[in-house]
Amino acid sequence: MKKLSVKLRIWRQKNQNDVGRFIDYDIDGLNEHMSFLEMLDVLNENLISNGEEPIAFDHDCREGICGSCSMVINGKPHGPLKGTTACQLHMYHFSDGDNITIEPWRAKPFPVIKDLVVDRTPFDRIIQSGGYISVNTGSAPDGNAIPISQEDALYAFDAAACIGCGACVAACKNASASLFVAAKVSQLASLPQGQPERAKRVVSMVDQMDEEGFGHCTNTGACEAECPKEISLEYIRKMNWEYHRANIKS
Ligand code: SF4
Ligand code: FES
Repeated sequence: MKKLSVKLRIWRQKNQNDVGRFIDYDIDGLNEHMSFLEMLDVLNENLISNGEEPIAFDHDCREGICGSCSMVINGKPHGPLKGTTACQLHMYHFSDGDNITIEPWRAKPFPVIKDLVVDRTPFDRIIQSGGYISVNTGSAPDGNAIPISQEDALYAFDAAACIGCGACVAACKNASASLFVAAKVSQLASLPQGQPERAKRVVSMVDQMDEEGFGHCTNTGACEAECPKEISLEYIRKMNWEYHRANIKS
């Protein structure tokens, strides 16, 4: 088993009003099979032992499903590995002696709360504005009894893979939340349960996205390239189609 030493450059910011700055840390003796977040845990244990303030970073599941572990690693949201969250990234993807820069999402609608933690409640408000269904669907039916074509089910399932992490916003030069909103809108618009609020939902969610200060889609595809769940730009096409359909029908 290889041991690694890395040089870290980490964004430290006390609170929303602090200007923030990068601080350098050297860390050695790392097990290459550690996850990136475990490497940060080791650093924090060292900092605490030295009487210093640990680095604040968001994490929860550490399995790539909750979307909490938002951080930019060497300029890439969630780091260098395609289709992978920061918590699923392992240290064997780095080399001994590497310089690693870690910073928070940089987007005006996601202000930094502390160090690497940003306020992502704008996403919660977008979901509250329409990302739900009102019909009572009962308990989970048998998969074969669901009256949905496999094509529709797969289309909705791929959209449902969005974990709400915000990497798409961090990757976009306009800080657009289009990929996130498009995934949620498309998932529900493709299923029978999503039909009652279909038109109202897309208008409310897109309007709320604008109100939160997210920019417009640039059409460059940076969001799709950096999304850890590889959500397709196709869903933005679908969202735009749904939005126009809703406006024509109203
Ligand atoms: S679309 Fe991808 S990058 Fe954006 S919030 Fe969902 S999972 Fe994260
Ligand atoms: S900690 Fe849950 S996705 Fe990374």
